[in-house]
Amino acid sequence: MKIKKNYDLTKLNTLGVSAVAKEFIEIENEEDIQELFHLKEFKENKKMFLGGGSNILFTTDYDGIVVLNKLTGIEIIDETSNEVVVRSMSGVVWHDLVLFVVQKGYWGLENLSLIPGTVGGAPVQNIGAYGAELKNVLDTVETLDATDGSKKVFTKAECEFGYRDSVFKNKFKGKYFISAVTFKLSKIPKPNISYKILSDYLKEHTIEANDLKNISDAVSAIRRSKLPDPKVIGNAGSFFKNIFLSKEIFSEFKKKYPDIRYFEEGETVKIPAAWLIENCGPAEGGASWKGYRIGNVGVHEKHALVLVNYGGGTGKELRDLAESIIESVLLKFDLTLTPEVNLI
Ligand code: EPU
Repeated sequence: MKIKKNYDLTKLNTLGVSAVAKEFIEIENEEDIQELFHLKEFKENKKMFLGGGSNILFTTDYDGIVVLNKLTGIEIIDETSNEVVVRSMSGVVWHDLVLFVVQKGYWGLENLSLIPGTVGGAPVQNIGAYGAELKNVLDTVETLDATDGSKKVFTKAECEFGYRDSVFKNKFKGKYFISAVTFKLSKIPKPNISYKILSDYLKEHTIEANDLKNISDAVSAIRRSKLPDPKVIGNAGSFFKNIFLSKEIFSEFKKKYPDIRYFEEGETVKIPAAWLIENCGPAEGGASWKGYRIGNVGVHEKHALVLVNYGGGTGKELRDLAESIIESVLLKFDLTLTPEVNLI
């Protein structure tokens, strides 16, 4: 293990923003972790663990040590005739884990196909897509206390999962390093095709609901058709969270904006932040933010929730754009958008 100084992080964040870490180190196995916690540079510095860099915006250089997580390995640790418990190290690429379990015939992760990032990042924001959420299949999160390296296993309840939210994003932000995650998956088909975009796609392509591999491929195809590939255009998926309103407040909102698409979820109504962004525009003119470009950054032309870096865009430019969008949505709709991406 070698500490590098003034390390360029441009290639390690999917927004492709340039930022420099004062110190940088890669960990690949258990021994590296043990060694890491004894290093002076680790003990004495501000620290940050980096996985796929797919949910992060560096607005400035990092004045501390960045630890790049390269811990790999997937294993089956328990099995009954109906269920299986899969344990994945946190540095595994998320989609590689999805492909592994789909190929084995285990149900539960297929709707989460092709989400960028690593397994360790998944519980932090309780990743979700196409009607599925990580919390529905997660069993435990194995961690190390960032101050002394002691082990702590979080049960699902202890993770306090919410919409794109967990303790790792809030009260324990930066306090624990996630080393592995275990999942409880089903050997019996458990299709979740409640999300209209997905069920429409399956119908159109005559894919059976119990065809695991094809459902995973369908989700990947839908994502590819709407969301830009970070390898081609820098982006971090959805930049903002969707908004939840009480039924009462929503019914007033709908009187003003009858065209809004919405999703009832229990006592609340989810409204797409993408719709709000699409239906207002920059102060200098223009009816919509969708497809807007300023310098090297902009709002993706196919999905208004995705901010993009066309190349050479800075973290500050992206933050300024995000702030202008928040202001404009507030002015027009009286609603406050919150970033889903972590701003550093
Ligand atoms: N819409 C617009 N304009 C757009 C795009 C969408 O008005 O440019 C409206 C449409 O009415 C559409 C609705 O927004 O029906 C929902 O769009 P979509 O299905 O694309 O989902 P989303 O709510 O924008 C969420 C997740 C995505 C996830 C998709 C699919 C959040 C913040 N984002 O987006 O997750 O892939 O659902 O389930 O909840 C991510 O977190 O990075 C991410 C990509």
